[in-house]
Parts: sequence; structure tokens; C-alpha cells
Amino acid sequence: MIRKISTKSLEVGMFVSDVGRTWLNHPWKSKSRLLTSKSEIDELIQFGIEEVYIDTDKAVKQPKPVAQPKQGVKKPEAEKPTPAKGPTAAAVAVAVPKAVAPSVAMETEFPIAAKAYARALDTSKALVAACRMNKRIEVSEVQENVDELVESVTRNRDALTALIKLRHFDDYTYTHSLNVSVLSISAGKTLGLTNDELRILGLGTMFHDLGKIRIPDNILNKPGKLTDDEFAVMRNHAAMSAEILTEQNLNVSRQVIEVARSHHERIDGSGYPDQLQGEQIPPLATICGLSDVYDALTSDRVYHKGMLPHDALKFIYTLRGTHFQPDWVDRFVQSVGIYPPGSVVELNTGHRAVVMEIAHRSLLTPLIKVVSDPNGQLYNRPKLVDLSKSAESQGWSIDKAVPPSEAGFEPSDYFSFTENN
Ligand SMILES: [Fe+2]
Ligand SMILES: [Fe+2]
Repeated sequence: MIRKISTKSLEVGMFVSDVGRTWLNHPWKSKSRLLTSKSEIDELIQFGIEEVYIDTDKAVKQPKPVAQPKQGVKKPEAEKPTPAKGPTAAAVAVAVPKAVAPSVAMETEFPIAAKAYARALDTSKALVAACRMNKRIEVSEVQENVDELVESVTRNRDALTALIKLRHFDDYTYTHSLNVSVLSISAGKTLGLTNDELRILGLGTMFHDLGKIRIPDNILNKPGKLTDDEFAVMRNHAAMSAEILTEQNLNVSRQVIEVARSHHERIDGSGYPDQLQGEQIPPLATICGLSDVYDALTSDRVYHKGMLPHDALKFIYTLRGTHFQPDWVDRFVQSVGIYPPGSVVELNTGHRAVVMEIAHRSLLTPLIKVVSDPNGQLYNRPKLVDLSKSAESQGWSIDKAVPPSEAGFEPSDYFSFTENN
């Protein structure tokens, strides 16, 4: 039987059949689960969820009679879960991330991450130039840069992702592969990959679109929609990326080449170049594929403005179960964050703030810097507020994301960590 009860009355052993919120507004990867620990209940309470629906038939513990659940409450229209056609979570060993605080604070890691990103960007440019001239790729140089990215993400998962959110002036041709690498390493960390796996993933993602140098410019940079014939040419780039790596007989692992070849494969077989399905798709290529779609949607291009992260993730969510394995989409969202560091948000009071760090298990309550009042007046001393702590948040909550161009200030100014900030 479905019953509605207060989250404060929940106990380990009860089965929550519906948290009563859309996917963006609750901390779990799905709306239902058997409660196996007190921390799962605390997560709901911290998220501000006051009531949930439980299924007493699936519980190993029943609510106490004093809980007085309302009878005959109609269960809300739940989002129908899309059936997974791909590998199961167990099959791909997707780990549940631990709520681990960064070992290095944002203000310490951000400048280090900025230098690592700048070095990797130079390497990314040199890599494309070398391939255009049919020169040999210096793998050790790229790996060195990737290792720096992995180390930065290990110290603080948000510094590099904040950086890619704040940099919006570089050429997509060079930043895209690097950004996909950063996003993939960060997501891989959330998924519980080892450092060796992250190094392979980082290298493969840096190379993933190299094949585009063999696609004619008029197709590669066409502002409008590609024709079927043009798209057929464009689709060759993934196989060409792998070809470039094998032609040069580079000292890279098979998995690096797989990431390049298979990053456009989708679990329903609609991808390319090999129309792989479900578990046939290498896991690292799946992570690259998710980061690739996200970066393409959120990047500003000459002919269109990038989507807000929140909207891009909503779109990616529609690809659950068809293009991507649902668990992987959920973990990717958890890694990127609905309001990633560097985002501008408007609070329920009209104040505007910059997101500084995200709580990966409570995506709607990040650490923010309140920058302007409801009239748009900038504060001399912006206030740092942790929305996950009720004593600090004082009723503040995020109302919506604001495009950086409409913020009324430059978000990157608040990441310079000078005395004034
Ligand atoms: Fe691609
Ligand atoms: Fe790409």
C-alpha cells in the first residue's frame, strides 16, 4: 500500500516509493529505494523534503501507527522510468560516490588548476597543428598535461570545472577536447575510477576528435543543419581519430583508441561508427560521450549561444536509457552539478550570487558568493554563504540560473581570490 508520511518519521527498512519531486529536486539517483541507512533519510531532510510516499508492501519495516499517514492519498504522476537497454550498474561497476570534502580548498587549487589548464590548452593546440602537418604526436607531453589535470581533480573536483565554466572566450576547436577531458576526468572520479583509469580516460578524450582535421571545413564549420550526405561525412571523424592514433603506431593503450573510436556509440545502437549496443560500448567511451554532448550544448559558438548547464543536463536526461545507460547519466549529473561552480544564480530574494563549490550529494545547495542585492547593486564585500547549512542560508534558496551575459557582473572576478573578494 502506498502511504504519504513525514520524512522525519522515516526509518531504516522502509521502502520509499516516491520522493514526490522531479529529478532535479531530490538527492537520489532515482525516486525510490529501500532505506538502508540513516544518512539516506538525512539527505532527504537536508534537501528540504518534508513528506514522501512509502510502499508498505515492499518495506522490511512498517511505519508506527502514530505516524497517522493520510489514507487514500493519490500517488503523484511519477516520471515513467525509461527501461535500461544498456549494461547494468553492476556490470559496469559504477561506484556510489562518497561525500568526501575536497582535500584542498578552492582558493588554493583554482590558481594551480588555471596554470595546468593553460599548459594543456597549449598542448591541445600543438596537437592539432602536428596532426594537420602529419607530424608525430608527442604522447608523453599530452600525458604529462593529463596527469596534472587528474591530480588537480583529485585535490579538488570543482576547480577545473569552474575554470571551464568561466572561460568563454577561447576557440572551441582547441578548448572542446580539453574541456571534454576535464569533464570526463571529473565524472570518472565521481564514478570511482582508479587514477590509472583516469589517466587513460584523460588521454583518450584529448584525442577524441582528432579525426575532425580530415573533415572538410565547409562541413565541419557549417553554421546550419548538415544535410544527410554532409552528416555521413561528418560521422567519419570518430573512426578517423582512431585511425590517426593507430597509423602513428603510438605507445598508447587499446582503451585510449577505443575512447576515440567509440565516443559517438549509443546503447540503442543508433550511434557510430560501429553501431555498438549496450555493454558493447567501452565504459570510458560512454563517459567521453556524455562529456562531449554536455560541452557541445553549453559552449558558445559563432552561430549559437551555449545552453545553461541546467538546461543541457535536462536534455541529457532525456537520453537516459536510449543513448546512455541511466545510472551513468545520473552520476554524470552528480559530477557536473545542476549549478556548476562559476554559474550565476538568482536567489528567492532577488539577490544574485556566483556558485563557488558544489555539494555533490546536495546539488541544489552549493557554496555561493552573494554578489548583488535585489536591485542589482554590487556589494563591496560579497558574502560567502553555504546554502547546505541552515544557519548560514537563512531562508535563501536558488530560484534560477542566470546567463553570465545577463549577470550584471563578471563571474570570473569572484574567482580571483584577492583580498577584496
Ligand atoms: Fe566527436
Ligand atoms: Fe567532441
